[in-house]
Amino acid sequence: MAHVEWTNALSVGIEAIDNQHKRIIEYANKLQDNLGDRHAMAEVLEDTIEYTESHFGFEETLLEEAEYPYLKVHRRIHDLFIRRIEEYKKRFLNGEDIGKELHDSLVHWLIKHIKSEDANYSACLIAKFGKEEAEMAEKKKIWLKKSWFARLFGDGAH
Ligand SMILES: [Fe+2]
Ligand SMILES: [Fe+2]
Repeated sequence: MAHVEWTNALSVGIEAIDNQHKRIIEYANKLQDNLGDRHAMAEVLEDTIEYTESHFGFEETLLEEAEYPYLKVHRRIHDLFIRRIEEYKKRFLNGEDIGKELHDSLVHWLIKHIKSEDANYSACLIAKFGKEEAEMAEKKKIWLKKSWFARLFGDGAH
């Protein structure tokens, strides 16, 4: 499978979220580049899980703030995916060669999720916060105090 390329068809119309999705796609591509190299894969796997969890947390916080009516379902979808990816990690740690399967599953799930469930909240978030990234960033700083916030936005803390 070739590298997954970002296209505008994947945009949810909110730059901060698009950037996070781009980064998860980069992780998927990196996973593919390192198939067969267990040491490198362990690292990418760890980063992928951590970053994806952070992204989900970020999205859920925004959706909560926007009083998105389908947040509960959206959160359940995220949780299920994390459970699935953790399952891959377990198998990997048991010595199984899950790289390709994980990569394909990640790409397939991600693209599908971004194009459907994530695209669905776009209008709600834009209506609530406006399209301007700067405006959103300002608001985010007020309500996002969790540690993953610093990691995602380089807020000075690590
Ligand atoms: Fe997302
Ligand atoms: Fe999502």
